[in-house]
Amino acid sequence: MKRVRKAVLPVAGFGTRVLPATKTIPKEMLPIFDRPAIQYVVDEALAAGIEHFVFVTGRNKGAIEDYFDTAYELEASLEAKGKTEILAEIADTKPVPGSMSFVRQQAPLGLGHAIWCARDIIGDEPFAILLPDVLIQAEPSCLAQMIEVFNETGGNVIAVEQVPADEVNKYGIIDPESREGNRIRMRGMVEKPTIDAAPSNLSITGRYILQGDVFEYLADQAAGAGGEIQLTDAMARLMADQDFHAVEYEGTSYDCGSKLGYLRASVAYALSHDELGDGASEIVRSLLPS
Ligand code: UTP
Repeated sequence: MKRVRKAVLPVAGFGTRVLPATKTIPKEMLPIFDRPAIQYVVDEALAAGIEHFVFVTGRNKGAIEDYFDTAYELEASLEAKGKTEILAEIADTKPVPGSMSFVRQQAPLGLGHAIWCARDIIGDEPFAILLPDVLIQAEPSCLAQMIEVFNETGGNVIAVEQVPADEVNKYGIIDPESREGNRIRMRGMVEKPTIDAAPSNLSITGRYILQGDVFEYLADQAAGAGGEIQLTDAMARLMADQDFHAVEYEGTSYDCGSKLGYLRASVAYALSHDELGDGASEIVRSLLPS
């Protein structure tokens, strides 16, 4: 069975829900406490053994590519001043040379279309997709938990988490067939079902391992909800031919795509920071009315 070596990170969306912050800064570069959101997602994937990253970018997203490059003047200046600790922190953010590719999605036609733009670099092998506006605090990393399951089940694997029963209409919800521990064999999935029609309260969380065959389905996938080419629609067709398992991972997810979600993520990551967490906690407490 082929290993999961590559990951696609779609970053071509406009981030309209967090405007005006994202007017000139890519959503993925907004800081979550002391580093851009995208860094946490790359770290999650690295911790799961991912060797190559494909970023699907668009206009105004150049800052992401620059972030993963050498910053010559800055680094030379830090070196000259003997600021070795900061230099080491910056060095940690640099990928192995040649381990990142950037492809353009010329227009944001939907998540499914964005993933399809990565087809030539992924080729015919299983690959991961990480939606970078979802951050997940987990140990082992969420993708690592998924790969552990994938190595036993093969096929396609997606991450799910429980949501309150009266909120299922906001999410993609899976239809479970059977369950063994944290892994669930899937029968299907429904996008934003009504509360009465929902087949479970397990929502799809923004992490996927899919077989390269999905590109064939994406190639002719018609526009769906919101007039966009949806990944979910192509996955539903792939499911007719291949196995899908869901993993109810252990960890906490943060949706940074909305303003309050972004705030929640920022506070949570500040509070769990190794050195500055206690200071952050004092500040948060001091801001709350007593
Ligand atoms: P979202 O819909 O959450 O992101 O897509 P968005 O479009 O940036 O956000 P809003 O709705 O305008 O506020 C989920 C992920 O898929 C990417 C986005 O960048 C985001 O990471 N995406 C979405 C693309 O790369 N291309 C698309 O055409 C659509």
